Amino acid sequence: MKLFHYKKLSAIPGIILICALLAACGSANTGSTGSTGSTGSTGGTTAGAAGKGCKKVGILLPESASSDRWENKDKPLLQQAIKAALPADAPAADYNNAQGDDTTQINQANSDLTKGDCILVVAAHDGKIAASIVAKAKASNVPVIAYDRLIQSKDLAYYVSFDNVKVGEIQGQYIVDHHKKGDNVVMINGSQTDNNAVLFKQGALNKLQPLFDSGELHKVYDQFTPDWDNDKARVEMDQALTAQKNNVQVAYVANDGMANSVIASLKAQKLAGKVPVTGQDATVAGLQNILEGNQGMTVYKAIPKEAAAVGDLVKAIYNGTATDSLTSGATTKTEDGGAIPSILETPVSVDKANIASTVIADGYVTKDQICKGVPAGTAGVC
Ligand code: BGC
Repeated sequence: MKLFHYKKLSAIPGIILICALLAACGSANTGSTGSTGSTGSTGGTTAGAAGKGCKKVGILLPESASSDRWENKDKPLLQQAIKAALPADAPAADYNNAQGDDTTQINQANSDLTKGDCILVVAAHDGKIAASIVAKAKASNVPVIAYDRLIQSKDLAYYVSFDNVKVGEIQGQYIVDHHKKGDNVVMINGSQTDNNAVLFKQGALNKLQPLFDSGELHKVYDQFTPDWDNDKARVEMDQALTAQKNNVQVAYVANDGMANSVIASLKAQKLAGKVPVTGQDATVAGLQNILEGNQGMTVYKAIPKEAAAVGDLVKAIYNGTATDSLTSGATTKTEDGGAIPSILETPVSVDKANIASTVIADGYVTKDQICKGVPAGTAGVC
């Protein structure tokens, strides 16, 4: 009891200190007031006063080990898009990666707010826990753009991502098109704390559940993978193969990083190339696995477009102008009843047959990158 009182009292100077550092609790980091996502005089959605004139942006990404994309694509592309959106004298955006730790991500956001960042772009490690980041930002009148992964908060200003159910449907459709009657299917899903992983699975099941129900396919293993941990995916596939005595014919795997681990597991049982494996992200390693015939497909999500959409929003927020033309009226529901103005890009299915006309033609990867170490002539690409 005594200890409890002591703790309570000792927290007060801390709160005062944090308020002092934030300039004033509850007031805007830009010094202006107003609410996030208000309705402008033209009747359209604008960023309102929140973030107007803001030149200091904080980028918060979730992990680096779960996928190549965060450090190799999102980081540089977001930095470029934000720089291009703001006046030349704007400082470079603050960049943070939480490396899979929620407390780290919250601390990074607090530190950005303390430094005076007035727009936050957050790809949450945990979409529910990160709601506290949105609440804290709101108290400083700082708009938060949820990037790629939805945060469950009605106070979000915007959400920028892909149609993630569609991503799962594209993966599921590949299995619909490449299975044999009676095949046993393993499902290795992403992290349950990432709303996207839930949507990918939902999309895949939109295509696969009817086949499971009819007995055309048998689901023999189904697991979410904490942190999208690529090493855990290897353990999961090993377990599934052992439990089924290798009687597995299809592997639904949510992204390329985990697919690479699943392929290693299949290789150890001399099953690689025989079991279709799905993926996502069009990573260099994933595309090489496709060229070599060990992975069936990946989902290409044009991250340059996703980052550019953030740049467009940052520009509109800075100028205080309407964003209706950017979001086209699209909204995404949050669990607490929000409807978040959204920009959702379209994912593309990639397999051996269209690598050249999609990811290479777009300049997302180069032929040199993906053909390195791959025999000349492979798949008509290298
Ligand atoms: C992203 C995927 C990525 C995964 C793991 C998801 O939220 O949408 O592109 O592979 O996280 O990082």
